[in-house]
Amino acid sequence: MYQPIKDESIMTSTPELLYPAETPMQVLEKMRPFRELMMLYECAMREVSTKFEVLNAEFSVRYNHNPLEAIKTRLKTPLSIAEKLQRNGKPLSVDSIRENLFDVAGVRIICSFPEDIYSLSDMFLRQDDVKLLKRKDYIADPKENGYRSLHLIVEVPIFLTERTLRIPVEVQFRTIAMDFWATLEHKTRYKQNIKDEPFIAAELKTCADQIAKLDIRMQEIHKYIEHKE
Ligand code: GTP
Ligand code: MG
Repeated sequence: MYQPIKDESIMTSTPELLYPAETPMQVLEKMRPFRELMMLYECAMREVSTKFEVLNAEFSVRYNHNPLEAIKTRLKTPLSIAEKLQRNGKPLSVDSIRENLFDVAGVRIICSFPEDIYSLSDMFLRQDDVKLLKRKDYIADPKENGYRSLHLIVEVPIFLTERTLRIPVEVQFRTIAMDFWATLEHKTRYKQNIKDEPFIAAELKTCADQIAKLDIRMQEIHKYIEHKE
């Protein structure tokens, strides 16, 4: 039977000594609040993703246009959750995740053209169960490195057996070209020797600006074709 050790010095100096005494069931029970919370983020992510699938389906039937190229979803890993809390000097607990992290559930909406980003995000935000917590428009106001995307932090209700909870989801909107750029730029962040290379940073910035111009030109061509028909 597992006996909690009262002596603090033993607990902090050799915490691993505690674990062999715990049964797998006890370990699982301890993890339950974390697993429940992750389940909620997973459900919220699915709710948001479905909302965009519905909008795209209606667009497709009504206007014969699919503004949405792809939907990508990701749940932050336990390691990445712990790292972010630690980086921000926050405690490692389930309550702390709920209070301090708003990007555990992430949905990325990849559109064809910049205008699709704004029409889709407006339609999404007009839905009365979606509550906007924060909006950052890096398309209108790009980051210094050239990064462009529209970021929303929203809250959606999750209807459970006995209660309803509001769960935050981070939604990022990009064009295909912006996504292509962000994926490559993201790789440079994890390679220390590349990150500090001014030449690569300048190249990426030039590409980002060219992509922004190209997106607008492609959008104009698309509009021209549509109005010709
Ligand atoms: P985080 O604490 O990293 O989540 O950032 P933040 O709270 O300052 O929010 P922000 O909206 O700026 O960024 C949120 C997310 O957008 C990041 O986790 C990345 O996925 C993405 N992002 C932001 N800036 C960049 C960038 O310069 N390059 C790339 N590739 N992605 C970025
Ligand atoms: Mg993030």
